[in-house]
Amino acid sequence: MSKPNQTLGEFIIENQSDFPGSSGELSRLINSIRLAAKVVNHEVNKAGLVDIIGAYGETNIQGEDQQKLDVYANNKFIQTLTNREIVCGIASEENDDFIRIEGHKRDHKNKYVVLMDPLDGSSNIDVNVSVGTIFSIYQRVTPIGTPVQKEDFLQPGNMQVAAGYIIYGTSTMLVYTTGHGVNGFTLNPALGSWYLSHPDMKFPEDGRIYSINEGNYIHFPQGVKDYIKYCQEEQGDRPYTSRYIGSMVSDIHRNMIKGGIFMYPKSSKANNGKLRLLYECNPFAYLTEQAGGKASDGFQRIMDIKPAELHERVPFFCGSRKMVEKAEEFMQKAE
Ligand code: AHG
Ligand code: MN
Ligand code: MN
Ligand code: MN
Repeated sequence: MSKPNQTLGEFIIENQSDFPGSSGELSRLINSIRLAAKVVNHEVNKAGLVDIIGAYGETNIQGEDQQKLDVYANNKFIQTLTNREIVCGIASEENDDFIRIEGHKRDHKNKYVVLMDPLDGSSNIDVNVSVGTIFSIYQRVTPIGTPVQKEDFLQPGNMQVAAGYIIYGTSTMLVYTTGHGVNGFTLNPALGSWYLSHPDMKFPEDGRIYSINEGNYIHFPQGVKDYIKYCQEEQGDRPYTSRYIGSMVSDIHRNMIKGGIFMYPKSSKANNGKLRLLYECNPFAYLTEQAGGKASDGFQRIMDIKPAELHERVPFFCGSRKMVEKAEEFMQKAE
């Protein structure tokens, strides 16, 4: 239930009853994410004025040159999520292995694991295009103490208890779900408060925007090529509009508001595509389904995929249900 312009704090308290039996840890976890988001937002908004843009000088396990803001955001979220006796471990795009959080006691029962992309769209930092943070939350499976990768981190997306993103754009928004729909909160930087600006967000069932890096066209599978041609045909409400800015947080956020499909398929250059299952595709698949949309790898539901590795990549089709189903039709026909 929501009231216009409710603050995030009021919203969390009002919806605490959604978690019978929980003693409020998940709410406190969301609260710590919103605190870290404010700190990172402050730095993102100063990028260019302070020494926070440009390369950090290291490459991450993805083989990408880490940007200073990648590392800054990563450290801030890890710092904020640690020592609150809620999280037992964190997996991040920027860390090879997951981070173990020792509670005050060795056999602590901190019950959640967090997987995150601390700064999404790093290639856009230096050119002042919006970037984001993506998070995915699970309850741990092992009972106590240090979490175990296979049981606690490699869970299928359908076991998520919460997921969301922050978009550092013309305004800063926190959009998240705990399985009861999707709600968007806009930060009032003057007051440091988040206000419910987008209650119960819904993916339009159909749309006219397709988002894909067409520079890879010749490397795409035939089904993707056929779907792109379908989007460009003069027929009915087509040709569609092509919109792609290289930050999946921004591309999917726009498509959720306006209707559209976002695709990062496999290609002859990247056999499983580029996007990471655990901290990019699963959280967006959860949000998309909660908003009435669809998310698949072109053949199967993203959230049913059983992860094998922390940083594994999957082909990704996400957005308005009818558009994703049409794209899947082309993928399956071309198989
Ligand atoms: P990240 O900056 O976290 O590494 O993710 C970037 C991702 C995603 O945000 C975006 O949609 C995609 O990379 C763009 O990739 P291309 O430049 O290959 O199109
Ligand atoms: Mn990256
Ligand atoms: Mn990313
Ligand atoms: Mn990233």
